[in-house]
Amino acid sequence: MKRMILTAITLALTFGANAQKITQQATIAQAGEDLKEIRLPEPQRKGGKPLMECLNERKSLRDFGDKRLDFQMLSNFLWASYGVSREDGRRTAPTARNAQDISIYVVMEKGVYRWESTKNLLILLQEGDFRRETGPQPFVPKAQWNIAIVSDLSKYGEIEDPTSIKYGAMSAGYVSENMYLFCAAFDLATVARAMFDQEAMKKLLKLNKTEMVMLVHSVGVMP
Ligand SMILES: Cc1cc2nc3c(=O)[nH]c(=O)nc-3n(C[C@H](O)[C@H](O)[C@H](O)COP(=O)(O)O)c2cc1C
Repeated sequence: MKRMILTAITLALTFGANAQKITQQATIAQAGEDLKEIRLPEPQRKGGKPLMECLNERKSLRDFGDKRLDFQMLSNFLWASYGVSREDGRRTAPTARNAQDISIYVVMEKGVYRWESTKNLLILLQEGDFRRETGPQPFVPKAQWNIAIVSDLSKYGEIEDPTSIKYGAMSAGYVSENMYLFCAAFDLATVARAMFDQEAMKKLLKLNKTEMVMLVHSVGVMP
């Protein structure tokens, strides 16, 4: 009898410990999915208003409503901005010599993320809300997403060469216009900003010396 009770206690303790371990593992996995790496849904490549209406409605808006946009909208927005659109790896925005110097970063309430465009993943760089560090204008932290367009100037040669900077800035301009047109197509509010501290942004996004932040788009719902 004594032995049966002992066995029962041992079993209960072992099961309890395992159950706790499983729960802990699940929590870590969930946190990983939530924060360290966000797998975005497949972008929907259809819908929105006709191009002529988007051009007519494109505008800079610096006021944002409280309603939250979901990851499907973020995925669609990122794909429209600079997603791969053809089998040879070319994208929705052109780049000089097809250098594909652009990368995109999302600064939102949960953290700072780099968009891995070919896998459609958001990779966490820093946890926490750093939106206000992306620019001095008062509306900036109110935008749900502050999206940085970065050029790796080394893709064009010497980074101080004015031609490299010109090409990088032009590539970013095309991406920025895609962002504007997407927002017009889906009634979102956005503004392109060049007003930010380059060094602070480079630190925030963990960029290397050859990379330059060209523009940041504040994006959210219309007020
Ligand atoms: C390269 C560039 C930099 C800009 N920088 C800022 C900025 O730092 N802050 C801001 O509020 N708007 C910025 N804007 C938005 C312009 O002020 C805006 O496009 C202009 O007033 C025309 O308005 P529209 O976009 O509604 O046509 C920038 C636009 C461009 C193209």
